[in-house]
Order: sequence, then C-alpha cells, then structure tokens
Amino acid sequence: MRAIAKCTMLFVLAKLFVLNASAQNHAQLQIDSNEMLYRPAQHFTPLKGWMNDPNGMFYLDGVYHLYYQHYPNATVWGPMHWGHATSRDLMHWEHKPIAIYPDSIGMIFSGSAVVDKNNSSGLGINGKAPLIAIFTQHNMDGEKAGKIDFQNQSIAYSNDGGISWKMYAGNPVVKNPGIKDFRDPKVIWHEASKKWVMIVAVKNKVSLYSSSNLIAWSKESDFGTELGSHDGVWECPDLFSLEYNKKQYWVLTVSINPGGPNKGSATQYFVGNFDGKQFTANSTKTKWMDYGADNYAGVTWSNTGDRKISIGWMSNWLYAQQVPTVNWRSATTTARALSLQTVKGEMYLSSLPVKEVKFAASKSIQGISEKIASAYKINIPSVSLQDFTISLSNKQGEHIDFGYDQKTNQFFIDRTNAGNHDFNSEFAVKHFAPRISNAHSTNLEIIIDKASIEMFADNGLTVMTDIFFPTSPYTKINVISKDRSLKEKVTISNYLTP
Ligand code: FRU
Repeated sequence: MRAIAKCTMLFVLAKLFVLNASAQNHAQLQIDSNEMLYRPAQHFTPLKGWMNDPNGMFYLDGVYHLYYQHYPNATVWGPMHWGHATSRDLMHWEHKPIAIYPDSIGMIFSGSAVVDKNNSSGLGINGKAPLIAIFTQHNMDGEKAGKIDFQNQSIAYSNDGGISWKMYAGNPVVKNPGIKDFRDPKVIWHEASKKWVMIVAVKNKVSLYSSSNLIAWSKESDFGTELGSHDGVWECPDLFSLEYNKKQYWVLTVSINPGGPNKGSATQYFVGNFDGKQFTANSTKTKWMDYGADNYAGVTWSNTGDRKISIGWMSNWLYAQQVPTVNWRSATTTARALSLQTVKGEMYLSSLPVKEVKFAASKSIQGISEKIASAYKINIPSVSLQDFTISLSNKQGEHIDFGYDQKTNQFFIDRTNAGNHDFNSEFAVKHFAPRISNAHSTNLEIIIDKASIEMFADNGLTVMTDIFFPTSPYTKINVISKDRSLKEKVTISNYLTP
C-alpha cells in the first residue's frame, strides 16, 4: 500500500515538474517572440527595464555617449538612474554599466553633460579635461511631504571618459527658486561671452543661467510665458546655434507634456537670437519638431562643433508605461541632423537621419512581392503632390498606412489597424501633420524598424514619428495612388546588420 502511495506521489511530482517546465518554456517562448517582434534592429533600447529621456549626450574621441533615464528593476518608471551606452556611428550601440545612481539628495532626472576643456570647474585631474554632468535631483520624500523645492540642479564629474561618475560634494549647485517644476538643465558653452549657459525648464517657461566654472550659477533671464504652446508642463529644453545663409541663428527647443499636436508629449521650437543672457524669438508661430506622437524630450549632443545632432525618446507619456514589450520599455529615435530652412520668410528647423545611418543599396519595390525585411528605409524621391498611401501589412490583415492628403495638404500616419492596441484607448488613431514646404513636388525618407516609423518629408521640414505593435511582422508593401508612376519611384533599402 505504502509503495503504491509513494509511486503516486512520485508520479504527481514528476507531472508537476513537467507542467512547470512546460509553463516556463511557454513563458520563455513568449518572451523570445516578443523580443523578435518588437526589439528594434537599428534603434537603441535598454537591455532590460525602463527607459525614458535621452540625457547627457556628448561626443569625444570619435565616440558618441548616450545616457538615459533608466529604472533597471522594472519596465515602468521608478527611481531614476542614468543608463549609459556608446556608439561610433549613432546606429550601433554598446551597453555600458549604469553611470549615475540616486543618492540622498534625490533621483537622477534629466540633464546634460559637457567636456570641460579648460578645467574651468577644477574637477579635472592629471591635466585631463573632466566631463561634467548637470542634472536635476528629484527628492521623492520632499515631494511626498508636500514641499515645493524638491527639484534642484546638481553636478557629477568623470575623470575616466564618462564611464564612472562622482557626485560633486557641494550639490546642489542651483537651488530650487520655490517652484515645483524646475528641471532638465542643458548646459552649453557660449563662445561670444566665454561663459557656460544653462537652460532649465520652469513649469511653463525656461530660465537661463550663466557660469564661469559650472559650479556657481547666476540667473540671467526667462523666456516663453508669452510664446508657444502652454497646454502642458515645459520639460527638457535645449539651446544651440545653426548657420543659415552665412548667418548664425539660435534655436530654442522645449518639450511639452501634454499638449502635443497629436496629443500627449511633443517638442516645440523657436528660432531667434541669443546674446549670452536673453533669448528672443523671431516669430510668434508655434512650430513642432515632429508631428508624430512618439518623439519626446529630444536634445542635442554636445562637443560636435557645427554639427547639431539630436535624439529623442520614441514614446509618449500617454501610453509609454503600457506598451506591450516584455523585457524593456522604449527606444530612442534615429539620431537626426538639424538645419534651418526658410519657407515664405519663416524659418523652420529641419531634421533628417544623420549621414551615419546607412542602409543597403536600394531596390525598386516592383521587384518585391511578399517579403520585406524588418528594418529598412523607404525612399520616395521628388513626386507630384497627389494623394498617396503606402501600406505595410501582415498575414493577419493588420496594416500601418502613411502618405499624403492633397486636399488638406497634410501628411499622415494611420495606426488604427496596425496591430495590438488594447493597452490604451488613445493609441489606435490616425495622426496628421501639416505640409510646411511650398515646393511643387515632395520627397520622403521613411525608416521602419519592426515597431516604429519615422517619416521625413520635404528634406526634413515635416517629420512624423510613430510606434506600433503588429502581432506578426509586416511582410507586404503596397502603394496606393492614382499616379501610376509613383510605384516605380518608390525604393527600399534594407538595414545592414553589423
Ligand atoms: C520628461 C521628464 C523630465 C524628467 C524626467 C524624469 O520625460 O518628465 O522632465 O526629468 O522625465 O524621468
């Protein structure tokens, strides 16, 4: 009798073991397929855990450093660290250890980093220029206790090229002026006044500070209460100069959440002048860097000379914490080269993928029937302004559609039927962007990478970035237009695996 009971028990245990193993296998298969479906080939993603804004980007000795808002222990926002990655071509990224951890002053919110070439801070050693990171420290206890001064600006320094960082002992370096939203300092070197300048978001405007040593800061001015969109809180500002027709102009960019042109998070900009103390815009028009729903908190790399390269967080606070990726959440956008263009006397910022973003030789889509790769670029050279839709679809009949609508003179991305959208009721919508160019023909460059589309129209004058989640990869491309010649013009070039 005892032998039978023992046998039964062994049988049950074995069965449980098999069931457990098969449940584990099943879960693993689901994770693997989620990775295959949504982990981009070309865009940066954290290995695991949560990411939001890109932070502290600088270029040094041929290497682009990218830090980012990171919570390593979950795929939702949490106590913020600065994650770190490096790249030589802005396309292939190497993961580095977490760079900056929260401390007793607070979590490490968004900010910037500079190469302190002349050791103005005195934090360099052995004659080597230190790197200085400037960021907001957010004190959760202070916030929970109902205080208003829980966001302050601090610095950290690195003497080993940006791998390890030490907190400056005298933090914070800029104390809260008595306002809850006081964050995301971007520091630049202003050559004309030979000073460091900090631009920081303050609720519904930005404030400008200056310093000779990155430690002692004086307030210079405010900008923005009267201009731009104010339907949300201002965050992650940037200030940089660009040459146009042999003249220098200054561009001030600032993200806003909510209040974007297609709901939620987006980034607006102003073109004008900056004298080292005050920024003045040369237009009262509200302009957006990207009309899609998924390009937020973008700022530029420092130490890149006249080249201005920006990268954004490819998500939206509307649904960022709900998107159906399992191991990680969010990617960055493709790095974009910024320049100025004029249309009817107005100056606009144009963004195009940086030249380092290279794809294989292009093929006409005529020769492509049912098989397309998971990451590629679609090129539409100069075409007439007629309605067209390009549709990418999969076996399930899910499709993402994008194109141009002549009647309203708008570009669009329609992700209504693009795949999984149960996670948020505001996700499955069609987004529109005004055509800014007034040229007689249009051109488009489109980067697709498994779960994202970045559409650059008219040499980057109108840009749209959207994410989407098909339940199986799109394998088919279809061009819908009365203009029969369009199909012959569209080409595809595949992503080159490193
Ligand atoms: C923007 C932002 C910043 C802040 C950070 C916190 O997405 O809200 O203003 O510093 O994220 O993670």
